[in-house]
This record gives sequence, C-alpha cells and structure tokens, in this order.
Amino acid sequence: MRKKFLSASPADTTALGRFLGMRLERGDCLALFGELGSGKTTLIKGVVDSALSGAPVEVTSPTFCLVNVYTATARPAVYHIDLYRIKGVSELSGIGWDEYVTSREGASIIEWADKAVDFLPEDYLKIELEHLEKDFRLITISALTKKYRRFVVFPGHQA
Ligand SMILES: Nc1ncnc2c1ncn2[C@@H]1O[C@H](COP(=O)(O)OP(=O)(O)OP(=O)(O)O)[C@@H](O)[C@H]1O
Ligand SMILES: [Mg+2]
Repeated sequence: MRKKFLSASPADTTALGRFLGMRLERGDCLALFGELGSGKTTLIKGVVDSALSGAPVEVTSPTFCLVNVYTATARPAVYHIDLYRIKGVSELSGIGWDEYVTSREGASIIEWADKAVDFLPEDYLKIELEHLEKDFRLITISALTKKYRRFVVFPGHQA
C-alpha cells in the first residue's frame, strides 16, 4: 500500500513528518531513501516532534555520532540513524545497528537507508523523497505489510 505526497515547502514536509510521528510505535522502523537535500532530516524533525509529544528537542543530522537518540517520558524512544558517512556495511555493528533496528523499546528512523538495504528488517515503512523543481518534493510512503498500514491510511479514507 502506497501514498504519494507533493510537498511545496519545508513546513509541508515537517507536517507530513508530524502525521507519521503521531502513529509511531515501539518496534517500528522507518527507512528513508533520497538524495542530498531531498528533505530527510526535515521530515524526521516532524516525526520526532510529534512522536515525543512536543517535548523540546533539537533534531539535526547526527554528523559525528551517526545515531541520535531522542526520549521523552512515556513515549517511545526514537533512534535517528544517518548512514551518509559510513564507508561500508561492516561499520553497522559498531554503531549498534542490530540493537536499534530490532529494539522493542523504541523506533528507528534511518537516513540513507539504501546504504544498508540488505540489513534492514524484513518489514519497514519505506519513505522515498525526490527533489522536483525548486522547493517541491515528491514523497512516497510505502507500507510493505499490514503492520505499517496505519501510516498510509487516513481518517475517513476507505482504503
Ligand atoms: N519541500 C521541502 N521539503 C523539505 N525541505 C525543503 C523543501 N523545500 C526546500 N527545502 C530545503 O531543502 C533542504 C533539505 O534539507 P534536509 O537536511 O532536510 O535534507 P536531507 O535529505 O536530510 O539531506 P542530507 O542527505 O544532506 O542529510 C533544507 O535546506 C530545506 O529548507
Ligand atoms: Mg539529513
């Protein structure tokens, strides 16, 4: 099951992220695919903001440590993993990859998921971001199985 969104601004992309974050549950894995500047971190800001119920956090790409962990009382932890800088999949174990993507305590969100596509869980929410012209981004969200349908089904929308 798949939905496509046309985002016309960073605010649109963050709003879509908030919609996804409201539905985030422990054990989820969201894998983001998209070129440099396509809006992955912008989307994740929205996800983290609503997943943590608006608790103040600053979301930036985890440039030095590859993984940022966001927590708020009584909310699932969010593990934000950015694979841009990994040189090969042999580095995955060193960043705690298996623990994060199979965690039952939190949800993992992965930037540059194409760098570890063979190491993703069997089931994940696939988010593809495409830079169209200017500020337009095409964002395609695919639920590979029933587990992730809640991210692509809308209130009042008959799927
Ligand atoms: N519709 C849009 N959605 C998201 N970002 C947009 C949009 N229009 C313009 N932008 C701009 O594009 C840039 C997106 O940056 P962002 O860091 O989110 O991308 P990214 O995919 O995480 O890049 P990287 O691969 O470097 O991590 C920002 O400067 C943002 O202001
Ligand atoms: Mg980024």
